[in-house]
Order: sequence, then C-alpha cells, then structure tokens
Amino acid sequence: MGTILITGGHSGIGLECAKRLVDKPGHTLVLAGRDLERVEPVARQLRTRGVEVKTLQLDVASLASVRTGAARCRAMLDKNEIDGLEAILCNAGAQFMGPVTYSPDGYENTFATNCLGHFLLVELLIDRLAESGRVVFTASGTHDPKTADGKVVGKAAEPDALVLAHEGKGGGKPLSTGVRYTSSKLCDILYAYELDRRLRRANSSIVSIAFDPGSVAGTGLLRTHPKPLQVLAKTGLMKWVMRRMGITMSSAEFSGAALARLCADPTYASESGKYFQAKDNRLTEQRSSTKSYDTAAAAKLWRDSETLVYLHHEERSALLSMG
Ligand SMILES: NC(=O)c1ccc[n+]([C@@H]2O[C@H](COP(=O)([O-])OP(=O)(O)OC[C@H]3O[C@@H](n4cnc5c(N)ncnc54)[C@H](OP(=O)(O)O)[C@@H]3O)[C@@H](O)[C@H]2O)c1
Repeated sequence: MGTILITGGHSGIGLECAKRLVDKPGHTLVLAGRDLERVEPVARQLRTRGVEVKTLQLDVASLASVRTGAARCRAMLDKNEIDGLEAILCNAGAQFMGPVTYSPDGYENTFATNCLGHFLLVELLIDRLAESGRVVFTASGTHDPKTADGKVVGKAAEPDALVLAHEGKGGGKPLSTGVRYTSSKLCDILYAYELDRRLRRANSSIVSIAFDPGSVAGTGLLRTHPKPLQVLAKTGLMKWVMRRMGITMSSAEFSGAALARLCADPTYASESGKYFQAKDNRLTEQRSSTKSYDTAAAAKLWRDSETLVYLHHEERSALLSMG
C-alpha cells in the first residue's frame, strides 16, 4: 500500500478520515496543514496506532506555500521517505464570514483556499500519483441551488475563476459569505469532472471523485461565524430543524469514514468522474447540480485557474495537458 496525502487531515471530517486510514495498516499518511503546531500533536497521536504519519507544511491559500509543499512531497518520494503516492485528498476548506479578504496572492480567500490551492497541488503532484491513484475533492451539497442545502447557504454564482478570484474589487456589492462558499464548492466539482476527462484523454487510470460530506455539525467550518450560531448549530433542536428542512445530514465520523472509503476502498476504483454524498450513514452516488455538468464552463475554469496560479510550462503534466 502507498501514501495518502490529505489537506486538513488534523481536524473535523479530515481527522475522522485519517483515523479510519490509520486503522488499516499499510498506508502512510501525510497530513498537510498550514500550521504544524496544530498538525504535529495529531500526527503523534495517530502514530501511536502503529502507522507512518508524516506532516507537511502547506497553506492552500498561498501559491508559494503549495509549490514548496509539493516540492517537499516530491523530495520525500524521491528519497523513499514515503511509499508511492496513492491518493491526494483535497479536503481543507473554509468559509470567510464578513468583508471580503484576500490571500497572499491577492485572490479572494474562499476561492484561493477552497479552489486554487488544491488545483495547483493536483497539477504539481499528478505525475507522481500511482497509475491506480485517486484524487478526491471534498465539495459540498450546498453547491446545488435546487437542494435545500444550496437554498439555505446561497445560490452558487457562475463558476468563472477570473471573476471569483477578484470578487469584491470591482466596487459593487460583493457576493455574500455563503455564495462565495457555494460557488467555490461548485468549482471543486467542476475540477473533479474536468480532471477525470483530462485523465481519460491521456489514457490514465487515475480516478477523480467529488464528495459531499453532508452537513456536519461541530467541525471548525463555522469558526468565523458568530459564536451563538456556532453553539446553536450543534444543538439537537437545530439538527431537528435542519432535517425537517430537508438538509443533507451526516456526522464527522461517518463522513470521514466515507472519505477514507472513496480514496482507499477497491469498490471505488472505477468510479472516476462521479459525485458521492454522505447522508444518514449511507454513501451513495448522486447527480450534482445541472451547472456542474457544463463541460465548456469546466474547461474554461481549468484554463483560467492555470493562468491564476501562474502555472509554468515545466510544471504542466502531460497527463493534464489535453484540454
Ligand atoms: N462541516 C460541514 O457541514 C461541511 C459540509 C460540506 C462540506 N464540508 C467541507 O468539508 C471539508 C472539511 O471541513 P470540516 O467541516 O471538517 O471543517 P474544519 O474542521 O474547519 O476542517 C477544515 C480543515 O481545513 C484546514 N484549512 C483551512 N484553511 C486552510 C489553509 N489555508 N491551508 C491549509 N489548511 C487549511 C483547517 O486547518 P486549520 O487548523 O489550519 O484551520 C482544517 O483542518 C471542507 O472542505 C468543507 O468545506 C464541510
């Protein structure tokens, strides 16, 4: 068995996924996070279960940090410090409550964190993934405006990378926190599908999957929201109300385990280009939003994202160049 790299694997859904993966001996885990002081204690804890757990400094909101982290990962592979790369889990994510803020590269933080950093990470590591490797994007059911989840959080905007990256700079009323988030998650699904198409054109058998963990209370996702809302979201009453509204409900334990299955269970080895959802202790394939199947929009998103991350000629993998 090989190495599984996960972003945001030290907390929330990612941590539950990491716990499942270390329960199956043989994997090496790489926990990629922006602050190793938060990541290291979790890695130490996971190592007590007898598995190899490495940590990797990587801030997905910073293109320089992603490039440095990917180079370090490649060096670990070259020096046999880790086994062959079997999976990349693009799981880190955030919501940014309040006025629009920007990443070190000047891009709107939600789009930089949830989209561009993972897009670049995949571009830089795809040619080191095993032929049987997998990429899983943790998206969100909120991307679909026809679902209750999407209606509550806010209708996703057009998945135009050039607009979303520069959101708030034009002087008009900026998109709300919720819409910035749902739009970023729509883009994650478009990336997963476009990645699948490019891999198929290159005759690769690498698998690309999009994942909706469902609405999971108690993780750090709402940390920038007002404290009373964070407390309310964890209560039984709120969960009851959300269920009545038709929200897709899950738990961190189940969704983390589902993510672990998507990246390591042979059942999903031929499920590339699909969207899976965790809901009420079941993991099922679902249709994502109508817009997510817009192949022209996905191809444009991909090209524009390459421009935004300043992808150098020598960084472009032959596996992904057939657009
Ligand atoms: N919870 C839900 O209801 C829900 C629903 C649908 C989808 N999701 C998605 O599930 C994924 C996991 O979220 P969660 O609910 O488990 O929330 P969480 O507990 O806040 O986990 C998010 C993780 O992302 C990491 N992260 C955030 N910004 C980062 C950056 N710039 N660089 C590197 N790592 C960064 C965080 O690390 P730090 O400790 O450094 O902040 C944290 O480990 C996210 O993609 C989220 O959008 C969650």
